[in-house]
Amino acid sequence: MEIIQNVDSLRNRVEFLRKERKYIGLVPTMGYFHDGHLNLMRLSVSECDVTVVSNYVNPAQFDRRDDLESYPINFERDKALAEEIGVDIMFYPQTLYQSDHKTWVTVEKLTDVLCGRSRPGHFKGVATVVCKLFNIVNPHVAYFGQKDAQQAAVIEQMIKDLNFDIRLVLSPIIREHDGLAMSSRNVQLTPEHRKKAPVFYEQLQLIDKKLLPDLSNKEMLIEQAKKTLENIPGVRVDYIEVLSWPHLEIPDKTSHRLLIAGAVFFGNVRLIDNIIKEL
Ligand code: PAF
Repeated sequence: MEIIQNVDSLRNRVEFLRKERKYIGLVPTMGYFHDGHLNLMRLSVSECDVTVVSNYVNPAQFDRRDDLESYPINFERDKALAEEIGVDIMFYPQTLYQSDHKTWVTVEKLTDVLCGRSRPGHFKGVATVVCKLFNIVNPHVAYFGQKDAQQAAVIEQMIKDLNFDIRLVLSPIIREHDGLAMSSRNVQLTPEHRKKAPVFYEQLQLIDKKLLPDLSNKEMLIEQAKKTLENIPGVRVDYIEVLSWPHLEIPDKTSHRLLIAGAVFFGNVRLIDNIIKEL
């Protein structure tokens, strides 16, 4: 596996591969790989001639300094895992922002709800860095995980609006044996909160199971879920919501798919999870 740290070197390498008519897959990550990331890499390796994995903790998408500073990093472990899967290139830049950076990508409406509402500026940072990665790598296909469902909806919109010729693949959430969605943040949970964290997914599953076709019990189910979670010491619900998928609007009888999504603080650790429900 090649490790490329420099933007121009990666651009030249990919240009050469494109001329060789190679089909290129990009897996954008912030490192500290778990099975969710590895699954995206395996998918890309199986579908593409060349897989590029970016490994960059993007400061622009963090709304809290302590969150950025405590974000886990282990490059040597990441390198070994990606190599084992057959990743061809790991892009590991020191920074993707010059000191005079002034250009930002904003995707409207889709970013006003859910995580966009509670983490101002987060999706501006995500869309900008993904736009940069698309421009640098110029992949045919890009792989994203459903755990960050809103992120995928935002990127899909950006692909359409900015005319990127890139196919987005959304891969299902990979879970621990007890149902907790895999996340680089899970290692930051206290042992007590790690034990209780699966209650989050259980509550989303309960909403999924009990939601009536006319959605009339939606608010009641959401309130029950919040109450159950907030009964756990040190737990605070940021949001639990049911919106249409992928437009992220208030659902009605014409909605074919729903996103049952939540963000919950276990102590200082903010976990997200969701279920996409077909109606
Ligand atoms: O999902 C992530 O890990 C990040 O938001 C991404 C897409 C790599 C952008 O920094």
